Amino acid sequence: MSNLIVVGAQWGDEGKGKIVDLLADKFDVVARYQGGHNAGHTVVIGDHHFVLQLIPSGILRLEKRVVIGNGVVVDPAALLHEIELLEENGISVWERLFISARAHLIFPYHRSVEKAWENSDQRQKIGTTARGIGPAYEDKAGRRGIRLGDSLDEDNFRCLVQMAVQEKQAALRARGSDLRMDAAEVAEQYLGCCRRLRPLIVNTTTFLNQEINAGRSVLLEGAQGTMLDVDHGTYPYVTSSSATAGGACTGLGIAPTRISGIVGVSKAYATRVGNGPFPSEDNSATGEVLRNCGQEYGSVTGRSRRCGWMDLPVLRYSAGVNGLDSLIITKLDVLDTLGEIPVCVSYEVEGAHLDEIPSQADVLGRVHPVYRTFPGWKQPTFGLTRYSDLPKEARLYLEFIRDQVGVEISVISTGPEREQSIILPGTRLEKLLPAPLLSP
Ligand code: GDP
Ligand code: IMO
Ligand code: MG
Repeated sequence: MSNLIVVGAQWGDEGKGKIVDLLADKFDVVARYQGGHNAGHTVVIGDHHFVLQLIPSGILRLEKRVVIGNGVVVDPAALLHEIELLEENGISVWERLFISARAHLIFPYHRSVEKAWENSDQRQKIGTTARGIGPAYEDKAGRRGIRLGDSLDEDNFRCLVQMAVQEKQAALRARGSDLRMDAAEVAEQYLGCCRRLRPLIVNTTTFLNQEINAGRSVLLEGAQGTMLDVDHGTYPYVTSSSATAGGACTGLGIAPTRISGIVGVSKAYATRVGNGPFPSEDNSATGEVLRNCGQEYGSVTGRSRRCGWMDLPVLRYSAGVNGLDSLIITKLDVLDTLGEIPVCVSYEVEGAHLDEIPSQADVLGRVHPVYRTFPGWKQPTFGLTRYSDLPKEARLYLEFIRDQVGVEISVISTGPEREQSIILPGTRLEKLLPAPLLSP
């Protein structure tokens, strides 16, 4: 049995897409467990630059089957657009994608509600991706959501949409906002999309468990990251789903006893998009170097990502919450030009030492990071594939992170492409994979 969870260990955009694409080669099925098209997972293959939002990054391995699980929220038009883009680029999707009938749908009114809240003085502004993700999960938890499977009974679907639009209109009106929306039109538009998706709609829980029972392996792909998890992140500056490893089980219907291991992906530094505390943020010219060298602009919204340094309290917290077996460090090459590299080792708040993540976002917003500064290596690591070829300063940096987090580092990414990876031998990750991941 080999079913591995890949989880973002920071605030998202850690390079999960590249890593899932790399590991997917060894698995039979790749399954996405939460989030929606707020995610943007970039995979670079030669001249092709794919940004996957809903479809698991495993789709780029042409012989693999992929699943969008019940924990994902789906905008059917966005999904069809993504399928079409992939098909136009020679990636077959229709035969290989399975979508859960239990996945909740995102409707245009979710975006309207989100916009009203984000512009309201009565709420904290989260800086969302404006895709309607939060309100769709609110409806799911409020037991008034509409699921993909509901589109199979078209008359009932029309009634559900009618009720939902009326309810949202009333709610927005009560807050002085207006929602001009023709429920019948929305229902027909959605039914049109859902009819096209119908051949892909299945009971993915049954499908995945049958695959596992037949001895096949599943790679469980997370979106966002630990610090954006609705329970464990920097609430309320989070997304509305369970991005941590626990969410993989509920988001796919795969029991915890079927999980073989969990791997966390972290950049060699840190970034965050949107509002909320980010203790190791660097707004100086050096932070700008990270943004430029790392091309830190959102793949979905194009927003400039906030940049800062490796935050060890965050990574240690992430290792605990997710039970990480192994750590993958990406974008080491982005640090190549720096003379010095600070690492946040702990926090101080009001003169007191703090080395764990406080539960209150405002407290985390007030901490001062305590840095230990490492010498830079000032030579290219871009594209390196052997650990022994790394400059000794880079190895020192990585080994410090490993020792401080207390989790092995199994892969170091040195560029956006699959081949630009250092795969360390004899790791726990190697034992968790269905087949060896040999260094290219
Ligand atoms: P995800 O959301 O976690 O999949 O990450 P994103 O795709 O949003 O952001 C990661 C970005 O870094 C993408 O543009 C990747 O192509 C790129 N990337 C991934 N690994 C590396 C690496 O090791 N070096 C460099 N220079 N870029 C990388
Ligand atoms: P991937 O999978 C980085 C952030 C948004 C905002 C907060 C809530 O590519 O790592 P939402 O639209 O989800 O309600 O926004 O979460 N956010 C992400 N940041 N990477 C992502 O996905 C993100 N998805 C959401 O910027 O701060
Ligand atoms: Mg991303």
